[in-house]
Amino acid sequence: MSKTVLVTGGAGFIGSHTVVELLERNYKVIIVDNFSNSKESVIDRIKQITYKDFLLYKLNMLDKVAFSKVFIENKIDSVIHFAGLKAVGESVEKPLLYYRNNIDMTLNLIELMEEFEINNLVFSSSATVYGVDNKPPFREDMSLSATSPYGATKLMIERMLNDIQNAYPEFNIALLRYFNPVGAHKSGIIGEDPEGIPNNLMPYIAQVGSGVRQRLSVFGGDYETDDGTGVRDYIHVMDLAIGHILALEKLQNEKIGCRAYNLGAGKGFSVLEVIKSYEKALGKEISYEIVERRSGDIAKMFADVSKAKEELGFETKKTLDNMCQDVVKWQNFTKR
Ligand code: UFG
Repeated sequence: MSKTVLVTGGAGFIGSHTVVELLERNYKVIIVDNFSNSKESVIDRIKQITYKDFLLYKLNMLDKVAFSKVFIENKIDSVIHFAGLKAVGESVEKPLLYYRNNIDMTLNLIELMEEFEINNLVFSSSATVYGVDNKPPFREDMSLSATSPYGATKLMIERMLNDIQNAYPEFNIALLRYFNPVGAHKSGIIGEDPEGIPNNLMPYIAQVGSGVRQRLSVFGGDYETDDGTGVRDYIHVMDLAIGHILALEKLQNEKIGCRAYNLGAGKGFSVLEVIKSYEKALGKEISYEIVERRSGDIAKMFADVSKAKEELGFETKKTLDNMCQDVVKWQNFTKR
């Protein structure tokens, strides 16, 4: 019998791509989403790609009574928890919103999982928990810290989950620390579609490429990197989606307690290298200028991915050029 996975935030960027991968592997899927940072059209597009159906609950997970219906009405085997607010800058402006939303929704989720005896949880964490003092490559056993309320919510939830798993050993939890997820599904019909001005590099470049914005600001040209611009570990969202399946399978086959895994490519590219790769995919130049550093940014980050490789069999397959090609395809689709 196929397993049922509850996917919170399943209409979002990483969530929707992971749902495609789950459906293609014949998992039964239930999405919970309030569409606060996603569009309802993604639901039909997932069905268009996979020819599969799934359940959707449009609700706010802070409303525990509404949320509990999902557990009452279904037999759930595992949970992948993506839902959460994720804009670093906005979290500095609105910390209350971030703490209330991200922490409370997770507490509601865990209480319901406990009540309904659901033990397997994959949590969407971030490389932001490595803070600013560690030197890359980042390893899972390094000291953790947060530099924004957003980062603090990821760190607090990781700690909460550790404590909860200690006290209730039946819980089996994988904390997945994502590096920089980019790209889109190869069909080009789902991808990253942020509301307003993009905070992140790839969606910004994509909007310059499609003429929605004029010029990219490159934040800092004097970092201690080969070309002076920031270096990050970009991972194709479909490689990341597969990482979630591998983590889920690990939890289904083995008791691991509460364990963290880096999901990245294990190498870094500079902002200028990303621009170059995107120009190649697009066949057109991307206009940019180098401006002041963005506060809170560090020069370089990339993952040590050996733990995910050894324990989950995780390995990225897609290159930076693949990531840019798929984003171009997605941009062409959204322009139609
Ligand atoms: N950058 C620009 N111009 C832009 C946007 C970004 O030059 O308009 C640069 C940044 O300075 C950085 C690189 O592009 O060097 C990547 O920046 P992103 O904003 O795309 O990604 P970050 O590495 O800053 O942030 C990501 C996630 C966060 C997470 C963080 C740490 O988006 O959620 O990694 O793990 F917290």
